[in-house]
Amino acid sequence: MYHKMKGTYDVLPDDIGKWQKLEKVIKNVSRLFHYQEIRTPILEHSELFHRSVGETTDIVSKETYDFVDRGKRANTLRPEGTAGVVRSYVENKLYAQAIGVDKYYYMGPMFRYERPQKGRYRQFQQFGAEAFGSNSPMLDADVIAYAVAILRALKIKDVTVHLNSIGDDASKANYRAALLDYLKPHVGDLCHDCQTRYQTNPLRILDCKIDGGGPILSNAPKPLDYLSDAAKAHFDELTGYLDAMKIDYEIDKNLVRGLDYYTDTVFEVKAHLETLGAQNTILGGGRYNHLVADLGGPDVPGVGFAFGLERLMFALESINFQGDPDYLHLYLMILGDAQKQDGMAMLNRCRMGGLLADVDFLDKNMKGKWKQVEAAGARFVAIYGANEKEAGTVNIKDQQSGEEKTIPKHQLYNHIVAELMKPADSCDSCGADSCEDCEE
Ligand code: HAM
Repeated sequence: MYHKMKGTYDVLPDDIGKWQKLEKVIKNVSRLFHYQEIRTPILEHSELFHRSVGETTDIVSKETYDFVDRGKRANTLRPEGTAGVVRSYVENKLYAQAIGVDKYYYMGPMFRYERPQKGRYRQFQQFGAEAFGSNSPMLDADVIAYAVAILRALKIKDVTVHLNSIGDDASKANYRAALLDYLKPHVGDLCHDCQTRYQTNPLRILDCKIDGGGPILSNAPKPLDYLSDAAKAHFDELTGYLDAMKIDYEIDKNLVRGLDYYTDTVFEVKAHLETLGAQNTILGGGRYNHLVADLGGPDVPGVGFAFGLERLMFALESINFQGDPDYLHLYLMILGDAQKQDGMAMLNRCRMGGLLADVDFLDKNMKGKWKQVEAAGARFVAIYGANEKEAGTVNIKDQQSGEEKTIPKHQLYNHIVAELMKPADSCDSCGADSCEDCEE
């Protein structure tokens, strides 16, 4: 017996309906916001994540699944989706075909070697979106509105959008100097990693899992207080759009995000639901105006976000979110070996015509067969045995009304389709929606 790897999980058939429904809702909202799906590989060259997410981030320095392949190349299982989408955007020169803003979404597994707990996995699913080609705060607002629309479509209510700006290049340089100044007398009190980060990437000290929340970092200067005029105007315009769209948000001066590529806007969504546990950040995102150029493309700005789908699923538990029920139109009971060829041909014809249909493969007794009908939620049962074969008929039972009929076997498909098309409370005699003439 083998066991699944730590930090991974199986989605079993009983739960798959919820996942499919979640994905369907997200895809429908994506159409509303004019996003197109993009699918990029799970495996990328390790260098891609070092350049984009950043060498000194926790994700790259501690959490990636890296391996050297047989061709001696360094590969990484993607820890997030943005880097791969930007790589693809640049490599396929999608920017060259751009007429307006390019908007892409993706869904799929990501891998981070983290300490597993509820809502934190080593293989997890993200739904993410990336929009390229405009530095307008209107696009930041549109992206945030898109994320919020997904939550509304899913009827998840108790959430807060946390919003901040870490500024443009000029703001970041100012802020970096202020932060270094402030931290200088405290460096010795920071954790070992943060002492290195002080030299290499001081902004990353702010999202340190060890020092975070402590007094040194709580009193540190905040990026929002060091914005250049241009960055401040960008942020003010963004909040103006959000206000106009009646999208609630909280300005969170401590929010910096744990990835290096961000510029200006950063945001997260937290859900306040018991079903989530400690990992209640269901989404993170922001603007990244240099990433396309850093990965070899032209100077094209970008902005995006990613939901953690397991965390969304936990949030959905609180509102008893259900998938679409599993059901069959038809269950065929073949009685006797001599009827099997005919039966399989009937079944195949029904399926080719679009009916959801199945048959008993296990030669169960009648009790077992009826159990399968119930488990499959079949609306009609067709019974085909030796007598029916001789008469060229098939017996039909409507599981909803209990009505039984014998019909010519070649009419099986048409009969079921006609029955399924009848309005729910139509007259049994003439099929009309509501019929006083036929009523006794
Ligand atoms: P991130 O904040 O690293 O951002 O991840 C986004 C979301 O993925 C998190 O808010 C969380 O819900 C989920 N998540 C992250 N790690 C795990 C884990 N170990 N287990 C379960 N869920 C997890 C990004 O990945 C950026 N690429 C987002 C982005 C897109 N920014 C711009 N465009």
